Parts: sequence; C-alpha cells; structure tokens
Amino acid sequence: MMINYQERIPNNVDLGNDRRLQRALEHWQPRFLEWWQELGPEGFQANDVYLRTATSVDAKGWATFGAVKMPDYRWGIFLADQQEGRTIGFGDEFGKPVWQQVPGEYRSILRRLIVTQGDTEPASVEQQRLLGQTCPSLFDLRNLFQVNVEEGRHLWAMVYLLHAYFGRDGREEAEDLLMRHSGSEDNPRILGTFNEPISEWLSFFMFTYFTDRDGKYQLKCLAESSFDPLARTCQFMLTEEAHHMYVGETGITRIFKRTLEKMVELKSDDPVILRKAGVIDLPTLQRYVNYWFSSCMDLFGAEISSNAAISFANGIKGRPDERVFEDHVERDTSLEIEMPDEAGSVRMGEITVRSAINEQVRTAYIKDCMVGVTRWNRLIKKAGFDFTIELPSSRFRRQIGLWADVITDPKGAFISAEEYERRRDEFLPSDSDRAFIHSLMQQVIEPGKMAGWIAAPDRGINNMPVDYEYVNLK
Ligand SMILES: [Fe+2]
Ligand SMILES: [Fe+2]
Repeated sequence: MMINYQERIPNNVDLGNDRRLQRALEHWQPRFLEWWQELGPEGFQANDVYLRTATSVDAKGWATFGAVKMPDYRWGIFLADQQEGRTIGFGDEFGKPVWQQVPGEYRSILRRLIVTQGDTEPASVEQQRLLGQTCPSLFDLRNLFQVNVEEGRHLWAMVYLLHAYFGRDGREEAEDLLMRHSGSEDNPRILGTFNEPISEWLSFFMFTYFTDRDGKYQLKCLAESSFDPLARTCQFMLTEEAHHMYVGETGITRIFKRTLEKMVELKSDDPVILRKAGVIDLPTLQRYVNYWFSSCMDLFGAEISSNAAISFANGIKGRPDERVFEDHVERDTSLEIEMPDEAGSVRMGEITVRSAINEQVRTAYIKDCMVGVTRWNRLIKKAGFDFTIELPSSRFRRQIGLWADVITDPKGAFISAEEYERRRDEFLPSDSDRAFIHSLMQQVIEPGKMAGWIAAPDRGINNMPVDYEYVNLK
C-alpha cells in the first residue's frame, strides 16, 4: 500500500480506519516531538537539511529527497507489503500460517524483544546529539541527521507495534521508551553500549559500522518472525538501515584514504609524524576497531542460550537469511563451537544448533564486518604499506557467555589480568588516543570542504555534487 501523507501520522497501515489506534498514536506523537527537541540533535533544528523521506515501501524508488527542517520530518509507520500465504519459516511450527495477532503465550517474550529493539533507536540519537558541533563537513552533517531522523522513525516502528498489538501494557512501554535516557543515572537505556555518549566522529563512524550492523542483524532475525506485523516492520527498517551501514563504511574508508595520502606524501608510518600532520595513524584506527567490534560481541548474547533456543523453536526470532540454512527445524541437530577448557586453552564442544542460535547470528555478523576490513586492507596495500587491520577475536573483552571470565588479548590468546592491564593501551584506545582524536574535531561547514583527517567522499547524496549545501545554515 502507498504511504498516506495526508494524515497527521504518515502511514501505510490504513491508520484512518482504526480510530482508537490513531488516537493513541496521536497522543504519543507530541511527546515524541518534545523528546526530539530536548534530546535529539543539539542545534540545527531550525535549519533546512537535505533529507530523504520514504514515499513507498517497494525496493525501487521508495525515497524522495528535499530540504526539510528536522522537527518537520514526516515520521510515520511503514511496513513492507503483506505477502499472501506467508508461512512460518523455522522452528517447531515450520510451514504453518504466520500469525497476524500475538499468540497469548508469546506475548511477554515478543513485547520484551520489541521494547529492547525499540530502546536502542532513541538511545543512539541521544548518544550522538552533540556531534553536529564538530562535523567534518556539511555532507557528513547531513548524513548524521539522516541517520538520526531514521532512528527516530525506527522508534515509531516499534511504538506502532506496541500500541497496535499489546494493549495497555504496550502503551505504557511506549511511554517508557521516551522516559529512559542514554547515560541517565536512574533511568538508563536497556543495553550498556547505548549509554556511552559518542563525542567524536571516529567513534560515530565506528558505531555506524559496527553497532548499527548489530542492529541490522537483530532486524534480520526479527524479519523472519512468525509474528507477521513484526517481520514486515523489520523488513522495511532494514532498507533504511542500509544507509547507516553506508555512512559507517564510507566514513571509515575516507579516514583510511586520508591517512594513507599523508603516509605516502611524508613517506612515513610513524604515528608521531602522522599525528603532527593531523591524520589518524593506522595503529590508532586498529585500537578503535578493537574497541567497537568487541563492544558489539555481547549484544548477540551467550554462545549457549536456552532463551534463543526457545525463541527459535517457537518461531519468534529466527536467523539472518533463514532460507540459506539447510535445516529450518534443527530438531536434533548439533554443531561444534569453541569453548574454554580448564587447562586454559580452547577446545571444541558439541551443542545443539538450537542452543547455538546466538553464535550462528554472531558468526554471520562477523563475516559481514570483514567486508569493509578487507577493503581497508586493500587500500593500505595499494598505498605500499605493510599493515593489516584485523577484527579482534570474538573472545576478546567479553562480559557474557562462555568467555566472560576469560581474559585474552585481541587475538584471543589467554593472558593474565596483570598482562592485560600492562598492555591495555596497546589493545584499546588510551586516554591520549582519545585526547588526540578529540583535538581533531573542528567544525567544518563550508560546502564541499572537509576536515583535514578525512578524505572527501567519492560522490554526493542522490547524485548531488559533493559541494552541495546539504545543510543550510542560514
Ligand atoms: Fe535503527
Ligand atoms: Fe541504524
């Protein structure tokens, strides 16, 4: 169904025919806008930004681009089209019709999943709210705001499900999504990583590369759900998420490009010389990769998880791209995963596939993370330098799961607590790394101009030139 923009809340769910739901959401809408003004991007709310807005939900041509003031963005409710005759794709009920309503016995588990997903969306907007003050270019400023308004829309997506399918509990949860705040002492966001402020752009690009990609994989699992409205909601969210991945990947790629340009020009890979020249040296980039990648590992949950097994068995949450797996039921199947053994080394252990779902999702995520890393390494090689960016081991810096009590270096080798402390600044960004990155953050707002630590993008947005005035600051 085409999106109806005539109504106060743009939607393609025929909201006008459900007065109660419409009223409930219209009641939530001003609270959302208050939240956006208070905790959304600091400043720039009165400026025109070149943003894309969804116009339909089909793969081609779903977006229009134009100058919009962020508070006027048409946040709304967009679901991928319903597929006639869709059946359950995995678990014990494989092949039966999908659910258009929430089955009573799965109500609380589905509500929890939706709330946890929903909570990350406004959280990321809050984390990034001060970044506009130090944008490296107008192009990047616009991309930040595009990500922010779309995370706001993802909140709408989850709030719609809560309002439409979970009655009074759902409405209360929707209120709470605006009450919790990233980093708040007494009412923080649900997941730890989403309570850390993002105060500079290297971390923003790392966040959109690594953490948003976790979001992508969570959405891919939910897009397989037997609860059809959730699946359709997540399918459309994934098309928006692709832009966030693009911002992260191209952002980091441009940083590598700029650093390598300077390395070639100065014929040096010495971090001291490069920092003096105002670019980010490769070892520092590696430490940021170590930090952000390892921060995401726990988001997939424990390697062995009975909750994940139950969600899979019941058809609630599947695996990314379930169709690529051979067996969609996995009733008596098992697989081998790495486990710590008492002797302080790694052994292989056999567990049921159902209890290893988290691990399968994490594995798919890691593979996806490698795509950009391979590209960055190609750039380094092409520039003639001998340095390889590596993703750390999934055992590194874990707080939950099999490796929670095991201390390793980034390669996953077991080390003592004392050695970890001693070598910490070799593994992860140190205070002086962070201070250096902060020292680079100077706002650049002349159209087409870039901060010195990042290369210009290859192309602009929607075929516009790179020097287009993506945010009008007048
Ligand atoms: Fe999102
Ligand atoms: Fe995102």
